[in-house]
Amino acid sequence: MESPFRSDVLKGKVALITGGGSGIGFEISKQFGKHGASVAIMGRRKQVLDFAVSALQSLGIPAVGFEGDVRKQEDATIVVESTYKHFGRIDILVNAAAGNFLVSAEDLSPNGFRTVMDIDSVGTFTMCHEALKYLKKGGLGRGSSGGGTILNISATLHYTASWYQVHVSAAKAAVDATTRNLALEWGTDYDIRVNGIAPGPIGDTPGMSKLVPQEVNSKARDFRPLYRLGEKWDIAMAALYLVSDAGKFVNGNIVIVDGGLWLSRPRHLPKEAVKQVSRIVEKRSREEPVGVPRSKM
Ligand code: COA
Repeated sequence: MESPFRSDVLKGKVALITGGGSGIGFEISKQFGKHGASVAIMGRRKQVLDFAVSALQSLGIPAVGFEGDVRKQEDATIVVESTYKHFGRIDILVNAAAGNFLVSAEDLSPNGFRTVMDIDSVGTFTMCHEALKYLKKGGLGRGSSGGGTILNISATLHYTASWYQVHVSAAKAAVDATTRNLALEWGTDYDIRVNGIAPGPIGDTPGMSKLVPQEVNSKARDFRPLYRLGEKWDIAMAALYLVSDAGKFVNGNIVIVDGGLWLSRPRHLPKEAVKQVSRIVEKRSREEPVGVPRSKM
C-alpha cells in the first residue's frame, strides 16, 4: 500500500530498531528507510539480520545490522555506540524486540516469567538508558522537533486480562509504564518524546504464528470489530506519525492499533431484538414506575 506520508518526513534522521530483522520491527525499519531515515537494526540472529539488511539495502536504504541481545547491557552499549559511530547520530530508538510463548500461569516457571520480563521490560529500559546521551543530541538544530524520540512497542493484553499470557501482560504493562515515565522525565529535561504503540493481532508476524494457531484464528474472527487482522504496514504508519514532526506534540501516548479489538465482547442481544425489547421495557416502566408497588398505584 502507498504511504500517505511524504517520502522525506524522516530525511537525515537515524533510527535504531531492536528486533528490526523480522516482523513488525522489520516493517518499521523498511518504512522509516523509505521515508528518508538511515536504519540500524539489532537482533540476536546473524542470519536474520544479514537477510534483513540486504533487503533494506536493495530498496536503497542506508542500513546496517548489529548482533546483540537486549537482555545484555554490554550488548546494548556496544550496539548503541556502533550505531552512533556508523551514522554519526541517533535520532530515533524503536524498541520492538520481544519474547513470547503461550503457557498457562500454572505451567509457567518463574524463570519463564523472568525471561520475558527481561527481554520486553528490562530490555526496553536498558536500550532507552543507553541511547539517552545520543538522543539528547538528536534533532538539535531542527526547530520544532526538539530532541530525539523513542517508540516502545507493547500490546493490549494487560488492559484487561489475557489467557496464557501472564508473563507478557506483566511485561507489556511495565513497558507502558516506562513509556509514560520517560515521557515525563525526558520530555521535560531533554525535549525527548517517548511514545508507544499497542498492536492488536497483526498478520504474517512471528508473534501471530506463535500465539494464534490457524484453527483458533478462524474462530476468533467474529470478535474482531474490523473483521480482519491488522497488517505490519498499519503499525509502521502509526510509527511514522509518532516519530516524525506530524507527532511533535504527542508525548507519553500509547497508540492502540488493533481495529478496536480490545474493546470487543460478544453481543448479549441481537441488534434487531434491541428495538423490540427496548420499547417493551419503556412501556412497562411507564405503566409501572420503578420502586412503586402495584398495590400503591
Ligand atoms: N512454555 C513454557 N515455558 C517456556 C516456553 C514455553 N513455550 N518457552 C520457554 N519457556 C521457559 C523455559 O522453560 C525457561 O524456563 P526454565 O529455565 O524454568 O525451564 C525459560 O522460559 C527460558 O527459556 P529459554 O528457551 O532458555 O529462553 P531463550 O532465551 O532461549 O528464548 C524465548 C527466549 C523463550 C522468549 C524465545 O521464545 C525467544 O527467543 N523469543 C523471541 C522471538 C519471539 O518470541 N517473538 C514473538 C514476539 S511477539
